[in-house]
Amino acid sequence: MSPFPSTTLTCLLALLIPQVSATVGVLDIDNLLQPTLQPPSTPFAPTKDPWSHEPHCTKSTSLATLGQKFCVYTTNTTGPHGLSLIFRPRSATEATQYLNDNPLHSFLTQKEAQRLYVRGQPWKIVDIPGKAKGVVATRRIEQYETFMLDQAAVVMDMDAENALDSAQNRRLLKRAVDQLRVPSRIRDLSAAHAGSEGSDGKEEEEEEEEEGRLEESIMKTNAFGSTVAEVSTRALYPLISRVNHACNPNSFVLFSRAGVSLAIKAYRAIEPGEEITISYLLLGLPSKQRAHLLSRWGFNCSCALCTLPADERTASDLRRTLITRNEAKILELAEAYDLDAAIALGEESVEMIKEEQNWSLLTDEYAMLAMLWLEKGDRETAEKYGKMTHRLLADLGFLGVGEERESWRLEQVLESIGGLGGKGVSWKKSPLRG
Ligand SMILES: *[C@@H]1O[C@H](CO)[C@@H](O)[C@H](O)[C@H]1NC(C)=O
Ligand SMILES: *[C@@H]1O[C@H](CO)[C@@H](O)[C@H](O)[C@H]1NC(C)=O
Ligand SMILES: *[C@@H]1O[C@H](CO)[C@@H](O)[C@H](O)[C@H]1NC(C)=O
Repeated sequence: MSPFPSTTLTCLLALLIPQVSATVGVLDIDNLLQPTLQPPSTPFAPTKDPWSHEPHCTKSTSLATLGQKFCVYTTNTTGPHGLSLIFRPRSATEATQYLNDNPLHSFLTQKEAQRLYVRGQPWKIVDIPGKAKGVVATRRIEQYETFMLDQAAVVMDMDAENALDSAQNRRLLKRAVDQLRVPSRIRDLSAAHAGSEGSDGKEEEEEEEEEGRLEESIMKTNAFGSTVAEVSTRALYPLISRVNHACNPNSFVLFSRAGVSLAIKAYRAIEPGEEITISYLLLGLPSKQRAHLLSRWGFNCSCALCTLPADERTASDLRRTLITRNEAKILELAEAYDLDAAIALGEESVEMIKEEQNWSLLTDEYAMLAMLWLEKGDRETAEKYGKMTHRLLADLGFLGVGEERESWRLEQVLESIGGLGGKGVSWKKSPLRG
């Protein structure tokens, strides 16, 4: 699971948002929203055996996890790449209901899908000087446009990494890739391997002991932490992993509820020729952890946030710390019914969050302020903040698409907000404390 404690405000967002399953600018959604995952509305009729290959299993031999079994389950007709899960048998059975996770349905209205497909994809993969590859826009991409979709190809239970030794892990990973539709498409993600053609599953030149090293390194440098079918995993989305990191990205990632598919949306308009970027990091992390996280992806952090002069970096870290501290303090003040102080602190946080460009936190903060103003009896100001919450949530894709999104009227958002603090509900008992 996420290494971060879920915040109190997480509960608030979770209440506000119906079908959410998204992340804003970050790749690990867990600490923002923990949606109670339910089977998709059009459930995949779980066939007895959706797997295209006989499951291949390995048992842990380490003392702590002795006998735990992890297997490769492949369905080579799922998504554009096929999908291999390295899961425990029980999780694999559970996962069958999440396999029918078409990103077209999760992220686009029919009209948007048509437009995207009629006009053609607005991006291409190119060589980027100084980086291996990257993705650039081939036409203007509008702000908040959803322009790139992908589905996971290899998904590995985080537990497998600990339970199995590395040779076992590598063998499972190699098989997981071998069984996909076009294994070379995955192997080409390795800079070292790019361009060597015709290597689909044939590793003649590789030593026996090297088996799976390539796949292991590809997962290490390209996979994202992601909750897939309710399992904490490392997941490889081949197309999306071509998109490079930036500290101040122009796009962000949305995950589907099932976690199998994802989409990239633009934070702002992107001009033709401009490189598409997303943030690989949790902006909530102080700079030291940030640098550590980035080094996992095989590059040093040279973006502004990491290379800020020491005092500016300290200022940024301080803001992040303060934002977190304010959050607890606001709740405390609200409980003590010191609404004015709570509001003042909330407004201070809004400014700091804007400086840190953490939009998901901003929706939380606006909702919080709406609630506080409502509690104070100033419905007009509450509505102003409610509108800002609603607007931002919708723009960021949290309210779903099409009809689902339309049905999320401001009143409904306000009602959810009001329902938390309204008369008769003491702060202590409010779900906010949950
Ligand atoms: C899927 O797997 C089956 C069974 O191994 C194989 O016969 C089939 O050719 C594969 N399909 C694709 C598209 O790779
Ligand atoms: C925003 O801040 C929260 C809390 O610190 C963090 O969990 C989240 O990843 C951040 N998101 C972005 C986009 O920075
Ligand atoms: C990152 O920086 C370290 C220390 O300065 C260096 O040893 C390493 O080679 C660098 N890595 C990359 C990918 O540039």
